[in-house]
Amino acid sequence: MKQTPYYFYDLDLLDDTLNCLKTNIKATKFHVHYAIKANHNKEILKHISKAGLGADCVSGGEIKYALDAGFSSDEIVFAGVGKTDAEIRFALENNIGMIHCESLQEIEVINEIAKETGSVATIALRLNPNVNPLTHEKISTGLKENKFGLTALEFNELLKVHQELKQINIVGLHFHIGSQISDMSVFVELCDRINELVPAFEQSIGELTYLNVGGGLGVDYYEPELNPIPDFKSYFEAFKTCLTISEEIPVHFELGRSVVAQCGSLRTQVLYIKKSETKNFAVLDAGMTELLRPALYNAYHKIQKLEAVTSEPSLHYDIVGPICESSDCFGKDIHLPELKRGDIITISSCGAYAESMSLNYNGREKVQSIAHSSKELISDSTLV
Ligand code: LLP
Repeated sequence: MKQTPYYFYDLDLLDDTLNCLKTNIKATKFHVHYAIKANHNKEILKHISKAGLGADCVSGGEIKYALDAGFSSDEIVFAGVGKTDAEIRFALENNIGMIHCESLQEIEVINEIAKETGSVATIALRLNPNVNPLTHEKISTGLKENKFGLTALEFNELLKVHQELKQINIVGLHFHIGSQISDMSVFVELCDRINELVPAFEQSIGELTYLNVGGGLGVDYYEPELNPIPDFKSYFEAFKTCLTISEEIPVHFELGRSVVAQCGSLRTQVLYIKKSETKNFAVLDAGMTELLRPALYNAYHKIQKLEAVTSEPSLHYDIVGPICESSDCFGKDIHLPELKRGDIITISSCGAYAESMSLNYNGREKVQSIAHSSKELISDSTLV
């Protein structure tokens, strides 16, 4: 048996997910860029680039991952509230398709660097639409109080100076309001705001030829087996129905979690069972260093014993990791078949924001991943 813990990726499910996504945007001008921050594992990136998606990157490092995995540079968008000069230069030198800008000063810096590199930067303005994504406060980005997007004040300042920024070509707008959104009315509200803001852009800046509505579609963490593929149909339908801009204008999406979350799980084994008067702890060999979401957002992930026999008696456990933090807990009072040292536990929906957020806190080494496909040989890969 493979040494635990490790990330296990089901590439067949990833392919099914990608096929479903593509079916739902057929015959539209919709383009999906995979948000690399969700998972930059090499096997995963290769599958996604082969499927024809673009990439959404938030650092020079992510742009490198994307280029190495075969995404073409004009299909890459570069976002982020704090791009460094070196990252901007790298993006311009590699002809990255679009830069999403979030402050006036950033646009001025890009203009300067583009002058030095002899290029013209094609940019979209990220606006903050002040739409409540009805999700966890730590993964909300589209409210006025969040740090993301040009403020109204800076947008008005930009209008006064944009014609002097000769190395900048402003072609459109970008939005991203948050993550793990399951209420489609939120996307309808986003469309309503976009429908108001596009005419304002066209009056003050020029023709809009690019619109990017971000990502955010949620997945079912509670029943991943029942709902392995997210509801792409309703998601894209909301934009098809509610956006009033010309159907000739391409609409770009930046989906991360919905593409990869359900194809991954974290496999770990029970190191110790510890009993007290009031509860049982199952101490695993994986911790918040391999899956940070429960510690950071109180996120729920389904925890199961691998190859459990249904007739086994069950008990309640607090499922904890080995890290020296009380928040290193994957779930409290979890009902599981009786566990013993060496049992393998699988934690579901770890394809997104698990491996990519892993840490080496407590001197932990990066763990391996195994990507499985019924059509290909099983392949082991270390972290990229
Ligand atoms: N575009 C932008 C500008 C973003 O900031 C994000 C995610 C995405 C696209 C992709 O969003 P998705 O489709 O994956 O929801 N670590 C958190 C999630 C943070 C999301 C950050 N931004 C978690 O584990 O829940």
